[in-house]
Amino acid sequence: MPDQQPTLTDGVVTLHAFGTEHIEAHVAGEDDEARLWFGRAEATTAAGMRETVERWESERRSGTRLSFAVVHDGVSRGVVEVRPRGDTAALSWMLYAGQRGQGYAARAVRLLVDWALTEQGQGGLGMHRVEAEVDPRNQASLRVATRAGLHREGIRRVTPGMADRDDSHGIVVLARLSTDPPLSDPQSFRSLLNSFLPRKRAIGQVLLRDPEGRVLLCRLTYKRDWDLPGGVVEVGESPRLAAVRELEEELGLSVAPGELLLTDWLPAWGGWDDAVCLVFDGGTHDPAVLDDVVLQAREIREARFLTLEEVDELAADFTARRIRAAVAGRNPYTESGS
Ligand SMILES: CC(C)(COP(=O)(O)OP(=O)(O)OC[C@H]1O[C@@H](n2cnc3c(N)ncnc32)[C@H](O)[C@@H]1OP(=O)(O)O)[C@@H](O)C(=O)NCCC(=O)NCCS
Repeated sequence: MPDQQPTLTDGVVTLHAFGTEHIEAHVAGEDDEARLWFGRAEATTAAGMRETVERWESERRSGTRLSFAVVHDGVSRGVVEVRPRGDTAALSWMLYAGQRGQGYAARAVRLLVDWALTEQGQGGLGMHRVEAEVDPRNQASLRVATRAGLHREGIRRVTPGMADRDDSHGIVVLARLSTDPPLSDPQSFRSLLNSFLPRKRAIGQVLLRDPEGRVLLCRLTYKRDWDLPGGVVEVGESPRLAAVRELEEELGLSVAPGELLLTDWLPAWGGWDDAVCLVFDGGTHDPAVLDDVVLQAREIREARFLTLEEVDELAADFTARRIRAAVAGRNPYTESGS
């Protein structure tokens, strides 16, 4: 921990150790917006803030909190802070009412992050990781975090009703590591934006038919209904490869899948997220292919060629609709089979 809290500047904003001279601007600048996102019910008073600044000073001495006033043109515009725990530090930031929307927050947090992740030998705080927790609805703060190079890592779940604010949406966890490449590197910036984009589950399935038009279905161990062979596409895997792999793993069948027959979107259901299911043509086979099939006992109870009427009876209604749509081949895209 540095003996003196340094003053940091990028030429536009300057971060000074937060002291009593910043209390007035802080009390005047804390508005409903700031209280909302920090989960504070009561407005901060000057007396309360004096106590806070005393506490911050003792935390600074013990190396657990470094608070900075964000100053531009000699005027105090907000506060940012870093709270080290071992080699990881938590960050938070706030701009005062009337000071927002001018880029000061993004600059101040970037400055703080760069300093916190710089080695101590080079005048930094020597952290390996800095992190922030932001309400997913706080768009301005998410933007500030991105501008400072923090990657979105995920959502921390929160027990609803345990805090003063509504955090039933969970809290977004964002972080930057000392080893992350600089933001000026185009690939680094793309991977930062990539961390914010949604991901959707994909499922690859194979439609195998027999000469009588029956369809190969499996009865799974972990659900009541029958379904086409196939499964979830792994991270970075192609859906076609996933379908082949699952067929091989589940039934020991090696089939080179042909055309894509159907893309079916499955809405969220029974605790599962929504998914896109791709059904590939597995060709026509003599039912005798099943004679040598080795069922993957952990997942598959039974595999049979079924007529479409049997499918209606044994599969979930949305699976039966998907199979009928794939067999009919009239519509390449369905949602829940329709
Ligand atoms: C979060 C906060 C510091 C942002 O301050 P700011 O002055 O708007 O930030 P900047 O001017 O540096 O802008 C940062 C980015 O946020 C964007 N932004 C600002 N307000 C936004 C909003 N309401 N919705 C979406 N984006 C917004 C800006 O366009 C800018 O993006 P860009 O660089 O791509 O143009 C300020 O709104 C604040 O103090 N809020 C209350 C306290 C708070 O939420 N603290 C964080 C708790 S985790």
